[in-house]
Amino acid sequence: MSSNEKSFTLTDNSSGKSWELPVMHGTLGPDVIDVRKLYADTGCFTYDPGFTSTGSCESKITFIDGDEGVLLYRGYPIEQLAEKSDFMEVCYLLLYGNLPSAADKVKFEHDITYHTMVHEQMQTFLRGFRRDAHPMAVMCGMVGALSAFYHDSLDISNPKHRMVSSYRMIAKMPTIAALAYKYNLGQPYTYPKNKLRYAENFLHMMFSNPCEEYEMDPVLARAMDVILILHADHEQNASTSTVRLAGSSGANPFACIAAGVASLWGPAHGGANEAVLNMLEEIGDKKNVGKFVEKAKNKDDPFRLMGFGHRVYKNFDPRSRVMRTQCHKVLDALGVHDEPLLEIALELEKIALEDPYFIEKKLYPNVDFYSGIIFKAMGIPTTMFTALFAVARTVGWIAQWNEMIEDPSQKIGRPRQLFTGAEKRDYVDIKKR
Ligand code: SDX
Repeated sequence: MSSNEKSFTLTDNSSGKSWELPVMHGTLGPDVIDVRKLYADTGCFTYDPGFTSTGSCESKITFIDGDEGVLLYRGYPIEQLAEKSDFMEVCYLLLYGNLPSAADKVKFEHDITYHTMVHEQMQTFLRGFRRDAHPMAVMCGMVGALSAFYHDSLDISNPKHRMVSSYRMIAKMPTIAALAYKYNLGQPYTYPKNKLRYAENFLHMMFSNPCEEYEMDPVLARAMDVILILHADHEQNASTSTVRLAGSSGANPFACIAAGVASLWGPAHGGANEAVLNMLEEIGDKKNVGKFVEKAKNKDDPFRLMGFGHRVYKNFDPRSRVMRTQCHKVLDALGVHDEPLLEIALELEKIALEDPYFIEKKLYPNVDFYSGIIFKAMGIPTTMFTALFAVARTVGWIAQWNEMIEDPSQKIGRPRQLFTGAEKRDYVDIKKR
């Protein structure tokens, strides 16, 4: 980050006073106006609910160009990583900033693999949930509970503790997600197998059972690996910002990740993949697509096209293109040639992209638009879609949390407000009201 002579002048037109606001430049993307002294100098706050124009931090991890539809993890384009890398290598890249050597990759994957088990007592938490509990409710509870088991790695000022907790989180999320799924089904829980790679282990824990050998389909294993890569990190989205804010108070990493899981659950964010599938099923047939597109354009109708639009992307979400390709690969591998939901999705995408409303508002399919179709084809139930997103995003949350803790300028996040409530008034005894 650099700041040179470029600045903005702020002038109070009533008093004529002016202030110089320095501009800071990154390596890519928009400059930022440094307003850290604004309140002290002017007595005014900035006002930006939803943070549409606010940079909350400096980061070196993920870059997004919304207009060009670009997504880089530590400088590497998501399309290249999805084609040539694997999720463990991407985890290493996001955590350490560079691609690993062959030896580093082997060691990293080994260390993660040997943290995949969860404490046996974690299973007792499940008994407290109803069998039909939403997996994200279980994930919120179980991830937060991890801080009750790992007291040896909660000192966030200790880099070794932070890395141990980081590895534990990345390693245990698939196990916890699979636990939640098996509990929902009433099936016995499957332990992780150290001979399996991360995505294979996750599929094995989700779909194997004691009554028969689980046949690993390499196409599905690769599809899962790519899906995890696509969902790994995404700059300062709602759940990552939640993790950073929770972490800024010094909360332990497991509690911060639990906060991220909670934020991701919302249908406007990670819950959209589940909402997309429910929407496609509600549309029911290609011939109904036009009616739903009209509903989405109707200001008086709260309905929105789930899987469309994005705060940052005003072009195609590059992840949705990769996801669409994976969708065709998985359906072909499974011999599914007439998936009605895919037909509806393709028709919806075609109509929406030609519609002036969507063109004018720059609404394109986002990462969630196709993911649900792949997940359903892979046998993953709709209620598990966001849990899968959480498994993938944990490495992004953890990488951003570490970056925040290591930032020397880091301080507790404490936004202010524009107060429009009652002015000071005296208490009135109930007899006089
Ligand atoms: C993710 O931030 C991230 O990076 C998130 C994510 C990640 O990897 O972490 O990319 C993952 O969350 C993807 C987004 C998944 N959510 C959905 O698919 C839900 C449907 N999309 C919308 O709810 C919406 O597009 C958001 C929430 C994604 C973005 O909302 P914004 O940026 O706050 O935009 P907005 O609500 O101000 O919308 C701008 C205009 C509005 O119309 P006007 O008020 O200007 O007339 O576009 C309209 C909106 O009504 N609009 C839509 C729409 N999305 C926006 N109209 C119909 N259908 C939609 N999906």
